[in-house]
Parts: sequence; structure tokens; C-alpha cells
Amino acid sequence: MTIRSVILGAGCYLPSRVVTNDELAKTVDTSNEWILQRTGIRERHIAAPGELTSDLGIKAAQAALAAAKVDAQSIDLIVVATSTPDNTFPASAVTVQAGLGITKGAAFDLQAVCSGFVFGLSTVDALLRAGNFKRALLIGAETFSRILDWTDRTTCVLFGDGAGAVVIEAQDQPGQMTDRGVLTTHLRSDGRHKLKLYVDGGPSSTQTVGHLRMEGKEVFKHAVTMITDVIRDAFAATGYTAQDLDWFVPHQANRRIIDGSVHKLGLDPAKVVITVDKHGNTSAASIPLALCVAIADGRIKQGDLVMFEAMGGGFTWGSALVRM
Ligand code: UT7
Repeated sequence: MTIRSVILGAGCYLPSRVVTNDELAKTVDTSNEWILQRTGIRERHIAAPGELTSDLGIKAAQAALAAAKVDAQSIDLIVVATSTPDNTFPASAVTVQAGLGITKGAAFDLQAVCSGFVFGLSTVDALLRAGNFKRALLIGAETFSRILDWTDRTTCVLFGDGAGAVVIEAQDQPGQMTDRGVLTTHLRSDGRHKLKLYVDGGPSSTQTVGHLRMEGKEVFKHAVTMITDVIRDAFAATGYTAQDLDWFVPHQANRRIIDGSVHKLGLDPAKVVITVDKHGNTSAASIPLALCVAIADGRIKQGDLVMFEAMGGGFTWGSALVRM
């Protein structure tokens, strides 16, 4: 027997305000055609004034607890993956913890930009398998609208706000690749690329929050190679192949990056979950949001083999292979 980290349920929350490409074209020099053709994005959700990352995270967490049919009091670990915390500190995770009425266990934030959910899944998996905790909430929650330069058309059209959460439980499993739970995770970073996608402010450097800056073409150039490499690592570690996957739930940054990765790996396009059209790039929230949508509409079911991948600022990138 071995301990596996099993996803019991997923929940999500999107702010009510939807901003279409046409609406953005009223304030910056862009068009629905350009955004749709280059990225696949049609619209994104934007948080209301005063609606914080922790507010989105709490709502996603409550939905995940309901989906998993477990009580908040049974949670002893909360990890919030975010690059847009409410404050520099305390961690947004402790605000989520308090919002859920939980006073035991541990709560902390994890920052790996768009790879936050995959880095978080690997971290939670390690803590559960080590026996330190029994039942965790992993939340990806972002309000990127707060760090965008709304006059920069090369970045402001790409991102959106939202949160997704999963309840993950330590369970005894037979110790085989047919087990439920996280089967393997692979994390990578390369700080030589740190200025290709960054925020030009912070407590130690400028004492301001700053705005997102990106050399989009440079990020794009590396994305497909990095994503496919780390997915191949997951196949090599488990013996599974592209044909064995039931679903591919990629980070939702750009439809062309997803299509390029799917083509290179020889995946069946019908097995790919796409939400970038509706959500834009919600950074660490994008994978749990996509997972939540595909579980809710009946596509992803218990027992399915699901590959997650993400790539983002740092660069950071990673993959996780999970049996639901
Ligand atoms: O989460 C991970 C992090 N992010 C990503 O993965 C994003 C990676 N990068 C991308 O998705 C793409 O590079 C972008 C969508 C950001 C840009 O697409 P692209 O095909 O690489 O376009 P480009 O940057 O080469 O720009 C082409 C043209 C430029 O005009 P010129 O120089 O050819 O005259 C841009 O100024 O498109 C122009 N442009 C725009 N036009 C209308 C850039 N942004 C816009 C815009 N609307 N919003």
C-alpha cells in the first residue's frame, strides 16, 4: 500500500462582470478579430472593485467542499497559488482559512505565476504523502486585472480574474499506476528568462505593486517546447503514453500554444479541455477553473487519467498526471 493524494472534488468562482473583446477595443487600439485569431480569447471576467483574490478563493473553496461532500472543519492544509495576493502579507491563504471558519492546520501561499496550480499540486502531494496532513484545499486564485497596464494592448487583452479549488485527501492505495490520485509531478524553473514575463514593482524593489510586462513572442517561442518536454517526463515516469490519457487540462494562456502542444504530443484534440475563450489567462486559477468546468459538464469522471501542464513567468513550468 502507498499513500496517494486523491482529488475528491473541484469548485470554481468567476466574478460576475464579463468584458468582451469589443468592449476592450473601445479603450485600447485592438480588435475582436486580432485577439480571437492570435489567442482564442473571446471574453474574460473582471473582479468588482473591492472584490479581492481571497474573496474569489473562498467562493471557489466553498464550491469545492460542496462538490467533495466534505466539511470545512476536516481540512488541515490550505495552499493558495497566487501572484496577486490581497496584501504583501499575510498570505491570502490565512484569509481564506478564516473565511471558511477553520482554525486548525496550516495555510500558506505559493507563488509560481501561471504554473502555481501545478507547483501547488506537487507541494500538497508531497505533504500529504509524508503524512503531515490528511485533507487539503488547493486553490488557484487571481485578480490579474489589478496588475495590468490597461493602456498596454500587448498584455491587457490577455488576462482575466477567477479562482478554482480542489479538495485533496491522503488515501491508502495499492501502489500501482492504476491507483487513484496524483501519480507523478514534474517541476522546472529557469531564472535566466525572468525578465521575459515579470511585474515591474514589488515591496523590496520599488515599494509599489507594479504592472505586468511581457515579451509575448519570447514566451510563445519557449512555451510549446517546455510544455511538451515536461509532459514527456510524466509519461516516462509512469509508462503511460499520449494515447492513454482520458483528458488533457492545460494552462489556458493562448489557444495556439495549446494546439501546438497537442499536435506535437500527438494527443486527440477531442480530449483537450479549453476555457481560454471564456476566461482568458487567469494564471494559477486557469487549470482548476478548466477542471471544474469539465467535471461539472460531465466530461471528466472518477477514474479518468488526466494530464495537467502549465508554463509561465520565471520561467516556471510543470506537469502532473492524476487519476481522478
Ligand atoms: O501564461 C503564460 C504566459 N503568457 C503566454 O503564454 C503568452 C505568450 N505569448 C502569446 O500568447 C503571444 O505572443 C501574444 C498573443 C502575446 C502575441 O501574439 P503574436 O502573434 O506573438 O503577436 P506579436 O507580439 O508578434 O505582435 C504582432 C503585431 C504587432 O504589430 P507589428 O509590430 O507587426 O506592426 C503588435 O504591435 O500585433 C500587434 N499587437 C496587437 N494588435 C492588435 C499586439 N497586441 C495587439 C493587440 N491588438 N492587442
